[in-house]
Amino acid sequence: MARSDRRWWPFGRKSTSTADAAPTTSVASPTPTPASAPVTRDPLIPRPPENPFSAFWASGRVPTRANEFLNMAARASALGKERSFQVLQLREGSSVLDVGCGNGRDVARLMELVGPTGEVWGVDNSAVMINEAKAAYPRALFVEGDVNRLPFKDNFFDAVRAERVLMHLDDPFHAFAEMLRVTKPGGMVLSMDADCENYYIHPCDPVVFQRFISYTSRRILKHSRLSLELYDELVKQGAQPIIELTAALPGTAETLRADMATQSPISAYAFFNPAARLHAVQAGVITEAESEEMARDIQKGLDDGTILFLQNQIIVAIQKPESEG
Ligand SMILES: C[S@@+](CC[C@H](N)C(=O)[O-])C[C@H]1O[C@@H](n2cnc3c(N)ncnc32)[C@H](O)[C@@H]1O
Repeated sequence: MARSDRRWWPFGRKSTSTADAAPTTSVASPTPTPASAPVTRDPLIPRPPENPFSAFWASGRVPTRANEFLNMAARASALGKERSFQVLQLREGSSVLDVGCGNGRDVARLMELVGPTGEVWGVDNSAVMINEAKAAYPRALFVEGDVNRLPFKDNFFDAVRAERVLMHLDDPFHAFAEMLRVTKPGGMVLSMDADCENYYIHPCDPVVFQRFISYTSRRILKHSRLSLELYDELVKQGAQPIIELTAALPGTAETLRADMATQSPISAYAFFNPAARLHAVQAGVITEAESEEMARDIQKGLDDGTILFLQNQIIVAIQKPESEG
């Protein structure tokens, strides 16, 4: 869907220029850049076409083995998860939807927060994940479905959230709009995603690592800085988003060793394994010498226990307006 077709953003859009004010103008397009002056942002960091990490999560066929990663990630994001629940402003009896609910763990926590008179649904496009969730939490409500076409009526929920889902999608803005559609006016809509271009592994050289991780995150993820993209889009649409930076718990030598032992392409290890370093060398983002030094630093940190994997998560949330702007 072209951005100009997006009639569903219910905000009074900010008008920044006369061209912007014309009714036929795309609501989100930046001012056109003359052909003679192409935008060359991040010239040293090419954005490759394939995004294997996101392709895995967005496939609609997430398998049972993903549970291992989800449980590890849930421990790491415990602080952010709780904060995201607070931002939803839940009360006894609230109705809530968790989009891309995975194995259902967050739905179970949300049920505690809204009490027996509340109603919590989890939706996921992986039948395997929905079956896992139903088996683990038989009292909760789970349904297989796609965030791009949510199987719920308009204005149904008091709050809708998605955690580490929109960053993997082709069109996260469309998905966010779907989440808005099923939220009651005055209800909260929230997305929490990792700030993947700002990972850091101590004790690597921070400057080299920044170059490496920006490239790697862009290569393996669809939207490596989705929270910032979403914030930007919402502000342009005239919304007043809440934005909060929360920290994931640091990955330590112990948790990283366990993660690396899985050798899984969807582990945290995917962000810094030898194949990832080789891609970055081949793309000219880091030199072979820098790649080798990074590997030595990581190994040293694992050996002496000083390694830390540090990562931020960003919450972006809005209150759905009472009436269309
Ligand atoms: C990284 S996992 C996060 C799971 C969960 N939110 C959590 O924090 O543990 C992403 C989840 O989103 C689901 N997903 C991906 N694309 C989806 C889509 N288009 N519609 C619904 N669910 C989707 C995946 O199947 C997966 O369970």
